[in-house]
Amino acid sequence: MAPNAMTIDLLLDRKQNGLPITMVTAYDAPTARLLSQAKIDIALVGDSLGMVVQGKDNTLHVTMEEMLYHTRMVRNGLDGPLLVTDMPFLSYQISEEEAHRNAGRLIKEGGAQAVKIEGGSEISGLVRRLTLSMIPVVGHIGMKPMGVHQMGGFKVQGRDPGSRREILADARALLEAGVFALVLEAIPASLGREITRMSPVPTIGIGAGPDTDGQVLVFHDLAGLTPAPLPRFARAFGNAGEVALRALLEFKSAVEQKTFPSSGESYAEEKTGRHPPSPPRTNRKDN
Ligand code: KIV
Repeated sequence: MAPNAMTIDLLLDRKQNGLPITMVTAYDAPTARLLSQAKIDIALVGDSLGMVVQGKDNTLHVTMEEMLYHTRMVRNGLDGPLLVTDMPFLSYQISEEEAHRNAGRLIKEGGAQAVKIEGGSEISGLVRRLTLSMIPVVGHIGMKPMGVHQMGGFKVQGRDPGSRREILADARALLEAGVFALVLEAIPASLGREITRMSPVPTIGIGAGPDTDGQVLVFHDLAGLTPAPLPRFARAFGNAGEVALRALLEFKSAVEQKTFPSSGESYAEEKTGRHPPSPPRTNRKDN
């Protein structure tokens, strides 16, 4: 483990000392490297990859194999942030045994350090079982994107007293079962504050107001790679989409005007006549 690596204990310290926690999604090694450079606390391989990377309307089709594939890619580029991976739809709802096996695969085969599971009191038995077998769990309550069909869309939860009580009961059940953090999605800010005050472990909000212990955003949203409009709770802190588009237009123009590649970007003929070996991508000193 890198000396500056984030751990569950350090996250707890941050909560106890009132230091905000940052969590950002990553789906590949280059993004994982950026998160590491920025010293983001937690990298989340979210099943949002089904929407953000695969271009679907929801997350329901994402498979275990896809989560494993992306977790491995993130593992390869990550140095510092804690690596948490989402358990995808139907990887944990069929039986606790299957859920246990799948969570273990994300740790053993993917290299995740913890799993995140959408659900409330109905998954508290599973959370207890996983934590007892040393698989740390992050809970995810409030708006649960897997419930998109039940909700009739992605809708803010906890606005009426009944739904608010249910979310509070979910939070209590998961805390008792042993989650080490709770993601709170799309709930009123006052409910985010209430859960944060009663929780001994960090709460990480996305559309849960400013008073949670940390905030999580999808990388593509915060970097400016998601086409407008963004969800109300997201903010584009950069314009990576525009930067990439400009680079593509300049590349196209340079190729069409025959200014790329230059002689400096081309190989001289080799005296031996043998084809030179391909240079490794990380070391471009290949003249
Ligand atoms: O899948 C995901 O990216 C998430 C975050 C938005 C919290 O669950």
